[in-house]
Amino acid sequence: MAFGWIDEQAEARRRAGLLRTLRPRPADSPLLDLASNDYLGLARHPEVVEGAAGAARTWGGGATGSRLVTGTTELHARLETELADFCGFEAALVLSSGYAANLAAVTALGPHGSLIVSDAGNHASLIDGCRLARGTTQVVGHADPEAVAKALAAHQGEAIALSDTVFSVDGDAAPLARLAGACREHRAGLVVDDAHGLGVLGEGGRGAVHAAGLAGAGDVVATATLSKSLGSQGGVVLGPARVIGHLVNTARTFIFDTGLAPAAAGAALAALRLLRREPERPARVRAVAAELHARLTAEGLAAVRPDAAVVSVRAPSPDAAVRWAADCRAEGLSVGCFRPPSVPDGVSRLRLTARADLSEADIERAVRVVTAVRPC
Ligand SMILES: Cc1ncc(COP(=O)(O)O)c(C=O)c1O
Repeated sequence: MAFGWIDEQAEARRRAGLLRTLRPRPADSPLLDLASNDYLGLARHPEVVEGAAGAARTWGGGATGSRLVTGTTELHARLETELADFCGFEAALVLSSGYAANLAAVTALGPHGSLIVSDAGNHASLIDGCRLARGTTQVVGHADPEAVAKALAAHQGEAIALSDTVFSVDGDAAPLARLAGACREHRAGLVVDDAHGLGVLGEGGRGAVHAAGLAGAGDVVATATLSKSLGSQGGVVLGPARVIGHLVNTARTFIFDTGLAPAAAGAALAALRLLRREPERPARVRAVAAELHARLTAEGLAAVRPDAAVVSVRAPSPDAAVRWAADCRAEGLSVGCFRPPSVPDGVSRLRLTARADLSEADIERAVRVVTAVRPC
């Protein structure tokens, strides 16, 4: 039978406790949300919602074409100018997702004959960028600038190093300054994904790259998603104008993709302006993450110290992680559950995300539930 192998795979996944299913979320969910990436609590902020609605009224439901044809509106241009200015880069290019932004950056900057040195803990979209790029990829140990330097030293010709700034599984930060040092020593470019840093780290939420003093450097390119702190949808590549011009001309996920929907661009722009006006939000989300970590650790749970908003708690097995998350849900708390193949080291985890709009009572309740239903 056609596709018969799919059933065998599904069965193997079920036996290993790795089957995934979708759970539609109602608009008025009563669950306390520590699973989403809405770090600043902006996705439903009235100004962000109006940013989306107003943009849809003005520009319509879709961008109507690829960015190089009809899909670049004045709204896209404004969003790019303000994102570049906020994050401290010369130029920005907005794409339809963070995933597409990473594919664009890696494929355009890792041409045939080049070396791409990639951290073993990088996000799937950077990994897929490596798979699509014409350059050769060398995967190095997690957060290991010396291994990056060694790989770069052994290569003649063009090279880039790739890293998340904050890793999505454990929420730990990359050693950006040392990575930049290794790249500079070997005249390589540094390409980093600031998906979890934008809006959380750096002055007023300008991101991990800004915090490391690397924003605007001629040899540094950053990507980010508009779907986490900015509560919208879409992705961005930030870098020198000549790099952005190169992407406009060569990045296939930019050229052959319909432009970001105006509603998403409008929402992201409204969120960015709000973030500028309310710079205390990033500090609050970091404080919430630190408090969650401290309280979970005090309860004896194996929580990793968060460098940004993600608090990861180790579970004994995939099955135990799934049951733990389900038991939390039954008690009114929504938490993330990471299992293989989403975790590079094979260790399953609960993934709690801090939000700037969580109250002390919310934090207290979250810790109480996670602790009460922990696996024995
Ligand atoms: C580190 C990282 N990079 C990229 C992405 C992809 O961004 P998007 O959801 O906008 O496609 C994500 C998650 O969504 C992520 O966690």
